[in-house]
Amino acid sequence: MTDLAQLQSQLEEMSQGAKDIISNAQTPEQLEQLRLDFLGKKGKLSQILGAMGKLPAPDRPVIGALANDVKVLVQTLLDDRKTTLQRLEIAKKLEAETIDVTMPGVFPFLQGRSHPITATIDRVVDILVGLGYTVAQGPEVETDYYNFEALNTPADHPARDMQDTFYLQDGLLLRTHTSSVQIRFMEQNDPPVRIICPGRVYRKDDVDATHFPMFHQVELLAVDEGLTFGDLKGTVRLFVEALFGECEVRFRPSFFPFTEPSAEVDVRWKDRWLEIGGCGMVDPNVFKAVGYDPDRYSGFAWGLGIERLAMVLHQIDDIRRLFTSDLRFLRQF
Ligand code: DAH
Repeated sequence: MTDLAQLQSQLEEMSQGAKDIISNAQTPEQLEQLRLDFLGKKGKLSQILGAMGKLPAPDRPVIGALANDVKVLVQTLLDDRKTTLQRLEIAKKLEAETIDVTMPGVFPFLQGRSHPITATIDRVVDILVGLGYTVAQGPEVETDYYNFEALNTPADHPARDMQDTFYLQDGLLLRTHTSSVQIRFMEQNDPPVRIICPGRVYRKDDVDATHFPMFHQVELLAVDEGLTFGDLKGTVRLFVEALFGECEVRFRPSFFPFTEPSAEVDVRWKDRWLEIGGCGMVDPNVFKAVGYDPDRYSGFAWGLGIERLAMVLHQIDDIRRLFTSDLRFLRQF
């Protein structure tokens, strides 16, 4: 007859042995095999329990309790080892997949860059900020007042024909020039003024190699006591030289309703005269519209055409190329 002590020692032996064997398992498969060996239907524990029936009845609960302890212990050992193996696996993987951040990347880099128009505006703005100007902005959807009326261009003024306008509902329009920002700024700020206003403008032009219904300007406005046409010329010259290097600049008499006198600025670049924008001394009527005293203050202004500059600087032959988002073209810049 099986006696109590014999079963007890078998169980003890099993739990002792399980510790070593389980802690040496190297793979999940080995662990599963061990689980079957110890706890499976035909495993060691079952065998020991099978013999329990032969014990005297009062001894059976003793072995039952002990067997249960051993079962819990073995299960815990299996679970712990499983966790350890998983951790080791992850550590191994991390080790194998370590990235050497000092290695060069995959070429070619897909690198974004500024659109030639944005880049040109940035250059222009940088130069003028360097001369002490600050950037001001205004809306592209404007009222007739800011785009024309306050700029000394009443409804029946012939100069309105120069700027074929996109009219919207409710008396609104798409601004035809950035000069509207001059008015908005002067309404809100007292002199002295030194501002530049980069932005989009719109005109109902027929599209061709040099015309597009949307383009960009950088407006400049300086107002102070005692500003003269000489200051305007000096500023234009400084700006042109910063952008093009040393080159000839020419002022041709012109007309704009909001400046008097007015001029067109030409730059001699690679043996050609290029028109880069209009300018002039702020008309006293513009000052009156914003509540500045024209007897005390004078000022000069200009409106630079950005597309023209970008096309010259990058030798672009057709303005439409700038707005068709053709990557073969854009990647050249
Ligand atoms: N607004 C004019 C245009 O769109 C350009 C211009 C001319 C702006 C003379 C000015 C200026 O500020 O003084 O053609």
